[in-house]
Amino acid sequence: MYKILKAEMLADKIYLMDVEAPRIAKACQPGEFVIVKMDDRGERIPLTICDYDREKGSITIVFQTVGASTEKMAELKTGGSFADVVGPLGNASEFVHEDIEELKNKKYLFVAGGVGTAPVYPQVKWMREHGIDVDVIMGAKTKDLLILEDAMREQAGNLYVTTDDGSYERKGLVTEVIKDLVQNQGKKYDVCVAIGPMIMMKFTCLVTKELGIPTVVSLNPVMVDGTGMCGACRVTVGGEVKFACVDGPEFDGHLVNFDEAMKRQMMYKSEEGRAVLKERE
Ligand code: NAD
Ligand code: FES
Repeated sequence: MYKILKAEMLADKIYLMDVEAPRIAKACQPGEFVIVKMDDRGERIPLTICDYDREKGSITIVFQTVGASTEKMAELKTGGSFADVVGPLGNASEFVHEDIEELKNKKYLFVAGGVGTAPVYPQVKWMREHGIDVDVIMGAKTKDLLILEDAMREQAGNLYVTTDDGSYERKGLVTEVIKDLVQNQGKKYDVCVAIGPMIMMKFTCLVTKELGIPTVVSLNPVMVDGTGMCGACRVTVGGEVKFACVDGPEFDGHLVNFDEAMKRQMMYKSEEGRAVLKERE
């Protein structure tokens, strides 16, 4: 059993949990994910690791309730436990394998959208730990849905917060901030890492392509079982078929066929919807 050391609600339908998992905490790297199961017969839920404490032997996961299983998961409290937590899975972010001195010469821009802020956080923290200052844009629909702002502010070189409705800081989408930074403020970036809803990653990639900034995206949202078995996460990247859970989750965003990936995600959503209805019968 994997004990829940802390469970808290970050915003409406968004939850954070610290889970005791010493072996995963010791080995994990930014970009990797875990699969959690509430009980032996429970659904396998893939979640990106949001933080880890190697000394304490714990990992942090953040999730949004989107269906029957995650709604059940949200009911778990501090002191409760998961039947299983498997990981770390997937490939770590590419930069963790790069030469640190070369990395220091590159300017990174991280774009975090909504719940996607959680997987961006360990990457930004890793950069800070290695002495690299990065710029971060965080976007949320409204002030109340903004998560991990203070934690991110501690790790980011510059943090730009924007809300769709203008209820906090800037008003507008993350893509507008990217354009503003590059076109009006003269910022130059060598790499952009964009993580959030598929639609955000799609439009971010259209903007960064125009601006000539290579962009990495995380296709975690299309995963279902996270094992390479169900085929749900099949995506086309540069004309080649890839599986997000095995070959990713991170890919060159300029090569991803987002429209196809989003169609697949919708199919899964309707199944999730059916599962919720069944659960409530
Ligand atoms: P959201 O809908 O509130 O969007 C977050 C931000 O993305 C917005 O504030 C906006 O700035 C930007 N955005 C949205 N649509 C845009 C568009 N058309 N053009 C430009 N920018 C746009 O986000 P949410 O409700 O928190 O998102 C939940 C989604 O995030 C889920 O679908 C989940 O699958 C996904 N998610 C992704 C990852 C990942 O690894 N990529 C991780 C966790 C969650
Ligand atoms: Fe099932 Fe990748 S999530 S194959």
